[in-house]
Amino acid sequence: MEKIRVELTKHPKAKPADQSKLGFGQIFTDHMFLMNYDEGQGWHDPRIVPYGPIELDPSAMCLHYGQEVFEGMKAYRTDDGRILLFRPDKNMARLNVSNDRLCIPPIDEAFGVEAVKELVKVDQDWIPTAKDTSLYIRPFIFSTDAHLGVHPAKHLLFCIILSPVGAYYPEGLNPVKIYVENEYVRAVKGGMGFTKTGGNYAASLKAQDEAEKIGYTQVLWLDGVERKYVEEVGTMNVFFKVDGEILTPALQGSILSGITRMSCIEILKSWGMKVTERRVGIQELADAAKAGKLEEAFGSGTAAVISPIGELRWKDDIMPINNGEIGPVSQKLYDTLTGIQWGRIPDEFGWTVEVK
Ligand code: COI
Repeated sequence: MEKIRVELTKHPKAKPADQSKLGFGQIFTDHMFLMNYDEGQGWHDPRIVPYGPIELDPSAMCLHYGQEVFEGMKAYRTDDGRILLFRPDKNMARLNVSNDRLCIPPIDEAFGVEAVKELVKVDQDWIPTAKDTSLYIRPFIFSTDAHLGVHPAKHLLFCIILSPVGAYYPEGLNPVKIYVENEYVRAVKGGMGFTKTGGNYAASLKAQDEAEKIGYTQVLWLDGVERKYVEEVGTMNVFFKVDGEILTPALQGSILSGITRMSCIEILKSWGMKVTERRVGIQELADAAKAGKLEEAFGSGTAAVISPIGELRWKDDIMPINNGEIGPVSQKLYDTLTGIQWGRIPDEFGWTVEVK
């Protein structure tokens, strides 16, 4: 691949003064990474340039037909000042899985990781240091062809932007209330549910909006065919502890293959816990809740980390979980995962990658 050209900003912005108020994805750093794809030339002209608006033709295909994919990852500042990424190779591999489904030419995965590292190095002073804060990394690719015909693009842009963040949900590590969505569906097998593409999130907005209006943080999607089996929550994968066993929906084409999900499974198994990936019925969970066997539930995601679920509502059935408090497994998983990510405990899995 070509060398990444770097053009530094002449107008650096003020960094956030109060790191306790970062929220999620509201502030962006001084630089961004860009690389073009043009048919016949492939991916070319990788560059780090001052962060700013991108000029697009109003007929750019991404604006009309949603040919777009993205990733979410984070850079963590350790107490001794190092910068860590968490399994960045997995993000770039998944980006290519999404690319394939959306007819976007693959990127060189190792080069994608290099681009992330270079950009993080340039903007490293933006990595926040307050507890539970990090630098969110958003790689994304979209079509730029000025054309209203529906066909795979011949011209695309790969961008990476950075945002200093705190907790995704205002609840932080306090349990969230989740509404089991019975009417709208997010994805079906054969569709795009396993990819990280904007369209999946667009499909989720209406249900999320309605759930929020009645006091729920997010929705839990059911399968799009029978509406019997749980799939994932708006911005995270989902786990349940039922009678001592950890259950999580199997990846069957409509669910995102979360990197945090994959890591949770590996950590839980390393503790000797029974973890089963299979279809999980909502009726089965309601029955377990009634029998006092739905012991814990939590979501997992890069943005959300581990988010305990304190209540599930399915139609008129309200299921409180662990008295609305974080359970011991969720807490231990949170401590272990974040311990590895922020370099506070030894990384026995070899998941972290230092940026230097
Ligand atoms: C992430 O967890 O990084 C995500 O991409 C979820 C998001 C839509 C905020």
